[in-house]
Amino acid sequence: MLGKTVPFSKTKIDEIISQFPTPFHIYDEKGMMEHAKYFVDCFSWNEGFKEYYAIKASPNPYLMKLLRNQGFGIDCSSLAELILAEKVGMRGEEIMFTSNDTPAEEYQKAIELGAILNIDDISHIDYINEHVGIPELVCFRYNPGALKGGNAIIGNPEDSKYGFTREQLFEGYKKLIGLGVKRFGIHTMVASNELDPDYFIETAEIVFDTIIDINKELGIKFEFANLGGGIGIPYKSEHKPVDLKKVSHGIKEKYEKLIVANGLDPLKIYFESGRAITGPFGYLVAKVLHMKETYKKYVGLDASMHNLMRPAMYGAYHHITVVGKESQSHKNLYDVTGSLCENNDKFAINRLLPEVEAGDVLVIHDAGAHGHSMGFNYNGKLRSAELLLRENGEVVQIRRKETLEDYYATVDFDGVKNF
Ligand SMILES: Cc1ncc(COP(=O)(O)O)c(C=O)c1O
Repeated sequence: MLGKTVPFSKTKIDEIISQFPTPFHIYDEKGMMEHAKYFVDCFSWNEGFKEYYAIKASPNPYLMKLLRNQGFGIDCSSLAELILAEKVGMRGEEIMFTSNDTPAEEYQKAIELGAILNIDDISHIDYINEHVGIPELVCFRYNPGALKGGNAIIGNPEDSKYGFTREQLFEGYKKLIGLGVKRFGIHTMVASNELDPDYFIETAEIVFDTIIDINKELGIKFEFANLGGGIGIPYKSEHKPVDLKKVSHGIKEKYEKLIVANGLDPLKIYFESGRAITGPFGYLVAKVLHMKETYKKYVGLDASMHNLMRPAMYGAYHHITVVGKESQSHKNLYDVTGSLCENNDKFAINRLLPEVEAGDVLVIHDAGAHGHSMGFNYNGKLRSAELLLRENGEVVQIRRKETLEDYYATVDFDGVKNF
């Protein structure tokens, strides 16, 4: 299947590989920054609009620094991600801390940085108050349960471990008022990789209705509504990208009808998208090590599912380009595999590609979110390097590949000798 292109020529990628051996992830700065600007522009009607990049999608400080230049905040979910935010120089309300089952030291760090706390469970109000002290601005994650249908990756909201029920929201905000909290936000995230624009408009409507009801009962004036992440990307050539203008227009209509009409404006709209921001602009580049033919034909790469586990984990489709053979007919049926001792270590099953040979360079598309970051070390596999293709064509290494020293750094071999 044709239809997806790569932002480098064969000559360029060969030149990059001569300096940085495969496998590696490479991010296209130009594409990423143009899209980031477009995303923000789509919501320019909303004063204070902010996209908090969900850093778990691609936790690289260089990428975050670029996105911050575009006005993005950061959405963190762990201590390590809060420290990354701090290292990039981010502070205060440009950090959202959306965690769950959270230990006290993580809340402590978030509060020390002045981050917005997005609390996942009603019992954490007392927990935070006891261990750290409740800050002035607090947000709750709302799980609308049966009010909202789920989707394939995130499942049904009622089965999801995240968030407050509607009743708990009222009780929780009441409690916050009692504790002297003055500023309030509300958050929901009920989708992952969702391509239907109406889904996000409907989510906004549910949140706006909830804001109205809470305002009526408790008199709270919300500062922001965080509509979460979950905006999908067209992994398959035939998928349509989410029409962000349509999403924005639909949310604006609901905003006017519900928020403005009830005197609840201004209300800042936030997102915490990850996939939609970096996903399409990251590529996993690998070389063919071996071809194998048994009952099927296999393309064996020097990358494995530890570089990109989405296909193995979710059966996710990732488009593959055989560099330099884009225009050849795609009539050879292959499974494209890695070398893990797991039979699901396959980037593609029964994929039609041009004739592939050992030494060919394969590019696996849409690996810029939940790709490198989901990497692991099973079978002693080392995480790959991350590169950035700059707008001027220069290539910068933004994370080196792991070494065997890194892999064994937590084991005391001297201790083993004396054991
Ligand atoms: C709380 C939260 N926010 C944002 C995101 C980002 O989601 P996506 O990359 O689908 O936009 C996630 C993804 O796991 C999440 O759990």
